[in-house]
Amino acid sequence: MPSWREALLRNMSENGFTTALLRWFAQYGRELPWRGIGDPYAIWVSEVILQQTRIEQGRDYWLRFMERFPTVEALAAASEDEVLRLWQGLGYYSRARNMHAAARQIVEMGGFPRSVKGLRALKGVGDYTAAAVGSMAFGLPAAAVDGNVYRVLSRHYGIDVPINTTRGKRTFEALAQELLPSGQASAFNQAMMDFGATWCTPRLPRCIDCPVAGTCEALHTGRIDQLPVKEKKLKVKERRLSYIYVRNGGMTALHRRPAGDIWQGLWEPLLVEDGPLPDLGCPLTLVAGGVKHVLTHRILLADFYLAEPAVRPVLPDGYVWINEREIADYALPRLVEKLINKLP
Ligand code: ADE
Repeated sequence: MPSWREALLRNMSENGFTTALLRWFAQYGRELPWRGIGDPYAIWVSEVILQQTRIEQGRDYWLRFMERFPTVEALAAASEDEVLRLWQGLGYYSRARNMHAAARQIVEMGGFPRSVKGLRALKGVGDYTAAAVGSMAFGLPAAAVDGNVYRVLSRHYGIDVPINTTRGKRTFEALAQELLPSGQASAFNQAMMDFGATWCTPRLPRCIDCPVAGTCEALHTGRIDQLPVKEKKLKVKERRLSYIYVRNGGMTALHRRPAGDIWQGLWEPLLVEDGPLPDLGCPLTLVAGGVKHVLTHRILLADFYLAEPAVRPVLPDGYVWINEREIADYALPRLVEKLINKLP
């Protein structure tokens, strides 16, 4: 049994962690204008705003937003432009667009869904927001797991499963759900958020007067600054490709991609990567520029040109001339297919 499970069982039998956390919350929980009012709309708006915004800035936006759109009906009746204007400065405008669309969904349904599944079905509402709104507005027994919760739990239970992996998400969600005290989901979730935001902070946490220091695995094993663990993701690199579709007398040139790179064995037109465009004895017509294509570890940006030289040019080794009508017989990368479909 991993040590964090043992720690959890030890803790659960005493119910020490949860009790201490709730006691801490009663004393140090923050006064926030959307707290204690039980209005699902007001809570939802606060959660959407706070997804990528600090509390201090978010509070003012929330107050203004609630003044202009005090109910979900008011928000649903507004134009998207007006919603976006009020959102200006908060960034991540898709949040505002989704919220506006969801308000219309809610009004159409005749009110807020009262289940986690129903909330989760609203536009822009993920696991975290559904659990946060469900617990705070309707008392649903759902643990809301955000970055604060990952940090608090990984430290307290000494869990080094990377938080940005599926296994990490499952592990921490299951643990938070097990810890959730019955009938007190709302207080527990908010306590975890506040505790993570003000005590168990990423840097310089207040271990010295921490209410759960006695059972904190990370503190006792000197790993506070090593938890939570985040897996290093490969940085997504950008590659710029220029394709030139050479057309001469109903023929075109393709070559087969070599091993050891993307699209091994697939066919493509004349490719230039990171170099000047070749002189083919005719102008190059840009058919599509800056076409973005996302692969797992790469973002490709492609320019696509058409060249129609009067004389068939000499091409680098490996290119073969094929009849344009037979191009469907060649396996092409999706991006190339997309580009070829744009040809005049
Ligand atoms: N961050 C996101 N939602 C929050 C909430 N309800 N209370 C405190 N911090 C939060």
